[in-house]
Amino acid sequence: MAGTDSGTTGTGGGQDRPIVIVGASLGGAKAAEALRGAGWEGGIVLIGEEHERPYERPPLSKGYLLGKDAREKIYVHPPQWYAEHDVTLRLGTAVASIDPAGHTVTLADDGRVEYAKLLLTTGSVPRRLPVPGADQDGVLYLRRVDDSDRIKAALRPGARIVVIGAGWIGLEVAAAARTAGAEVTVLESLELPLLRVLGREVAEVFADLHREHGVDLRFGVQVTELTGDGGTVTGVVLADGTTVAADAVVVGIGIVPATGLAEAAGLEVDNGIKTDRHLRTSDPDVYAAGDVANAYHPLFGKHIRVEHWANALNQPQTAARALLGQADAVHDRIPYFFSDQYDLGMEYVGYVEPGGYDQVVFRGDRAGREFIAFWLSGGRVLAGMNVNVWDVTDPIRELVRSGRAVDTKALADPNVPLGDL
Ligand SMILES: Cc1cc2nc3c(=O)[nH]c(=O)nc-3n(C[C@H](O)[C@H](O)[C@H](O)COP(=O)(O)OP(=O)(O)OC[C@H]3O[C@@H](n4cnc5c(N)ncnc54)[C@H](O)[C@@H]3O)c2cc1C
Ligand SMILES: NC(=O)c1ccc[n+]([C@@H]2O[C@H](COP(=O)([O-])OP(=O)(O)OC[C@H]3O[C@@H](n4cnc5c(N)ncnc54)[C@H](O)[C@@H]3O)[C@@H](O)[C@H]2O)c1
Repeated sequence: MAGTDSGTTGTGGGQDRPIVIVGASLGGAKAAEALRGAGWEGGIVLIGEEHERPYERPPLSKGYLLGKDAREKIYVHPPQWYAEHDVTLRLGTAVASIDPAGHTVTLADDGRVEYAKLLLTTGSVPRRLPVPGADQDGVLYLRRVDDSDRIKAALRPGARIVVIGAGWIGLEVAAAARTAGAEVTVLESLELPLLRVLGREVAEVFADLHREHGVDLRFGVQVTELTGDGGTVTGVVLADGTTVAADAVVVGIGIVPATGLAEAAGLEVDNGIKTDRHLRTSDPDVYAAGDVANAYHPLFGKHIRVEHWANALNQPQTAARALLGQADAVHDRIPYFFSDQYDLGMEYVGYVEPGGYDQVVFRGDRAGREFIAFWLSGGRVLAGMNVNVWDVTDPIRELVRSGRAVDTKALADPNVPLGDL
């Protein structure tokens, strides 16, 4: 079974068969780059069902959505990079199945590609809203660049935008929509935004931020139906009978890891594709990285699946080295992510499960939104989030990695350097 530690092996099939990467987004493109960087001279085939060459998603809910970042800025590599690095990029091509015994993937058009080793970077897809009326025009999700284009077109001054879900997508879209002059209502089933990831103390900071920017936040609500007129959405009905009128509805209620291929191929799947610390799946010639991987993390002593940009940037480097047989290739990075909403910029380093902390310590000006929040358990820092305070992620990461107990008074005191704790 994957998930316990195990050694790595060489590419087995030598360099006559290519390394195949399924999923041509940030994870897949970074894996191709890392394979060349690690000295692999054989073939690399990068297969993606989207028609765009690999691009990054963070701008789709921020600068690109706001019209500030040009489209050229979203791509991982310039177009010529793939040919220059002898990477065969097959876009608009879905992989339909994997035959682990035959070391072959079958494409949706029935073509076949043999592999020496296979890397799955299939990412994730948005959870769909399971209520009547949710399939109408004007009900929008945000994952791909054309989704962002559709939402951008809806964010007109005065337009009534209803956002379902106060997670990262919901809040970043709400901020972009208010910035564009739209009227925004956010509907969240829990009592606060980002509650599962940040906990009550810090979630309140985000609730205040959006309220101050004129967002109508409604917590603890249940969406039962979407109304429409001629197939276009007109409103959102809540369990208490209220209807919120909408010109467009943006749904951001989480994602589901794209594990279908792996499951059908008999790989071990549990909240993502399970891997060991080398990102190797239950099949020794198949690896997984990015949003789809539920990877054993040696520092935390358990499997974790991380749905953030930095993970899709870094895990492929470990996977590439591991599948080339480098036994010291282990993914033990501490999760990191960032967000920008209005004039609030933040970074988060660490890992806390919902309810997995017993204390939150603030350093700095919480009301003025210039602070660092630390989540602790038993006096040890599990994670830290800097809000409009910069260049502190390295010492926070070090505090988390060390696992040492800290003096919480000193932790709260901005005059004590983080490195001295
Ligand atoms: C709008 C938005 C904003 C975000 N902002 C941030 C942020 O600010 N900070 C942050 O840390 N994270 C952010 N994230 C999360 C981050 O973008 C993801 O964690 C990252 O994209 C994961 O990369 P990935 O390569 O693992 O998967 P994905 O980006 O999901 O890519 C997987 C690719 O595989 C393809 N694929 C799937 N199945 C197949 C198949 N069978 N055959 C061929 N191709 C297939 C998909 O079409 C897709 O192109 C954001 C995400 C979104 C959607
Ligand atoms: N800055 C960032 O790091 C960033 C930005 C955008 C997206 N992302 C990633 O994109 C993915 C999708 O983001 P997301 O915001 O959709 O997911 P999320 O998991 O961050 O938040 C989903 C929110 O929707 C709520 N919810 C669930 N079902 C609901 C329902 N029926 N009605 C109302 N509320 C409901 C949840 O309680 C939660 O608050 C995640 O992997 C996220 O990490 C990250």
